[in-house]
Amino acid sequence: MHLTSIKLSNFRNIGELEMHPNPALNLIVGPNAAGKTSVLEAIFYGCTARSFRGASDDVLLRQGADVCRIELVGMIGDSNTTIEIAWGSAHKRQIKVDGVKMTRVADLFDYFHAVSFIPEDTELVFGSPSVRRKMLDLYLSQADRNYLSELLEYNRIIAQRNALLKEFTIDEENASPLEMLEVWDGQLAAFGAKIIAKRLAMITTIAERIAQYYRAVESGESLLRWSYESSAGDNAEGRETFLNKLLQSRRRDFYFGSTSVGPHRDDLLIVLNDRPTRDYASQGEAKSATLAIKFAIFDYLSDRLHEPPLLLLDELSSDLDYTRLAALTKLLPRLGQVFLTTTKPAELLQGASI
Ligand SMILES: Nc1ncnc2c1ncn2[C@@H]1O[C@H](COP(=O)(O)OP(=O)(O)OP(=O)(O)O)[C@@H](O)[C@H]1O
Ligand SMILES: [Mg+2]
Repeated sequence: MHLTSIKLSNFRNIGELEMHPNPALNLIVGPNAAGKTSVLEAIFYGCTARSFRGASDDVLLRQGADVCRIELVGMIGDSNTTIEIAWGSAHKRQIKVDGVKMTRVADLFDYFHAVSFIPEDTELVFGSPSVRRKMLDLYLSQADRNYLSELLEYNRIIAQRNALLKEFTIDEENASPLEMLEVWDGQLAAFGAKIIAKRLAMITTIAERIAQYYRAVESGESLLRWSYESSAGDNAEGRETFLNKLLQSRRRDFYFGSTSVGPHRDDLLIVLNDRPTRDYASQGEAKSATLAIKFAIFDYLSDRLHEPPLLLLDELSSDLDYTRLAALTKLLPRLGQVFLTTTKPAELLQGASI
């Protein structure tokens, strides 16, 4: 897939912008605060209806402007597709595909796909488990047609279950909340086990690639590994195991008024040379690990979608980074359309050929 036209209005500091990108490599060059990251962010938003900086729609709307608009036109397989997204201070967000209004945001994930890398992504290594869960969910939603709907359904059941846990206490005399809880638990286990199974499948599939990409980036013998840590214990991808775990934690859940096990509490363990990166990694190691992970995900999406997604790389701002980037891209079986921002194009051109 690739974009043939990008039109933006009132997105961040960008008033009006029209670009006709190259199907291969595109460099976005400019001084600090020119709006380079914002261009990548707008492309990513056109693919996923969210900001890779976690910014809300209000923040993305240009200060003082009424309506913000993103239009992406491009080829997905053989078909020419147009995505338009617009919202404003007094207008609800509207998404259109080829001129037709979209009612479910999840359906946007059927069109353009993108993998992004921004310097803040090292939060993946140092941040809380929710950062890692969000990353998994975002890319699985792009890779798997049903994942996002299953996740939304799971979150809806969790909210209802938690409301019940808050409202009642465990009481032998009053069996009705327990009966209701059993209904929620049955559904929760069905969706939760599916989500865990899909996360596990992705993590296992690309574990070897991550190690390989990390070695390429660091040009050494270091071993980067990652694994899934489920709050519901081992084999929680099986519905029965998950259901049992819910049963075991029921007393505690009533006490705290929230559900303590399930994919909403799980984490990814990232380990470099047998040491958890969260506690031990240097900034450089964290950056290399994040790049290796993002490239492995890029590969994974290419396989799943049968064509490479867009690759958005923000400010890899040193010679070393370009050497690393070149080492990585040489390993990629396929590369599609790439957008790369930089304040220092000369360094990039000197650094390495991509
Ligand atoms: N909603 C908004 N309205 C107006 N300006 C905004 C809005 N949000 C962000 N900005 C400004 O837009 C400018 C561009 O930000 P951006 O992060 O895209 O720059 P950049 O070119 O990537 O810079 P750097 O090289 O420093 O990373 C910044 O000055 C920022 O303060
Ligand atoms: Mg920037």
